[in-house]
Amino acid sequence: MSSGSEAFLRPSGHGALLIDGKAVSAHVIAEAAQGAAALALKGVKPGLAVVLVGEDPASQVYVRAKGKAAEQCGFHSVQHTLLATTSESDLIALVEQLNADPAIHGILVQLPLPAHIDSTRVLETISPSKDVDGFHPVNAGLLAIGNLERALVPCTPAGSMILLREAAKSLGVSLAGQNAVVVGRSNIVGKPMAQLLLAENCTVTIAHSRTRDLAGVVAGADILVAAVGRPEMVRGAWVKAGAIVIDVGINRVPGEGLNAQGQPKTRLVGDVEYAAAAARAGAITPVPGGVGPMTIAMLMMNTLTAAQRSVR
Ligand code: GUN
Repeated sequence: MSSGSEAFLRPSGHGALLIDGKAVSAHVIAEAAQGAAALALKGVKPGLAVVLVGEDPASQVYVRAKGKAAEQCGFHSVQHTLLATTSESDLIALVEQLNADPAIHGILVQLPLPAHIDSTRVLETISPSKDVDGFHPVNAGLLAIGNLERALVPCTPAGSMILLREAAKSLGVSLAGQNAVVVGRSNIVGKPMAQLLLAENCTVTIAHSRTRDLAGVVAGADILVAAVGRPEMVRGAWVKAGAIVIDVGINRVPGEGLNAQGQPKTRLVGDVEYAAAAARAGAITPVPGGVGPMTIAMLMMNTLTAAQRSVR
């Protein structure tokens, strides 16, 4: 990312610098819009198709946000909303139609899909060159062999890397040679994150639920990425002094008191015990407002990239 004089990091009030994912994501979205304007001179408008099957309320919120960001970037944005009872073959037929549509450069099938549909089969039907989620085995393979020129990289780890680079820049450190620990080994975040850190010449450890002495492993991390999906599982006291902490988790937990509707309040927390970690870290992402906003921004960047590659 080419950053100007914007302040992407500021005091957290706990000691560490706070990495402002909202500000960085706004910058990335503005870059995607600029890229789209440049591409328009070649007669190409980036096109993103988002496919939603069923009526899961959280998925509806995400899909709306993706469509809104695409419009903000000046993209051609289409949404296909299918009934929860849609057959796997009908969904695959739609993906094939989008694969063949020259106005569409990016296809995203929102997960989770209803239980009667094999998600793997559907995701593997998406043309790798239009796979803006970066979930297709061809893109996972390109990332694994370090071919970032051709891969489309999953959005959350790609966005996490941008935040990490901004933090390293602000702290005046280089990523090469640093000990990076990724807690979590999912195909969507943990594994691609580890590949991206390796591509930056970090020394990478992937920790997970079966890791022995997780506290000891985390304590050796100059760079810590937490992506386990368990509220505050990574304790602040484990964090190495001065480390850069990227918290991918977004967990809803009970809050204090009742809301206006008389229901118990809830709040969002990450996978890291924030205040205690921020007292030790050099820089840290908050939850919310850290990695979360980067995912949609990187989806816009991937769609732009797919459109740019289509005219080369
Ligand atoms: N559901 C929740 N996050 C995602 C995402 O990043 N991509 C897709 N396709 N579905 C999701």
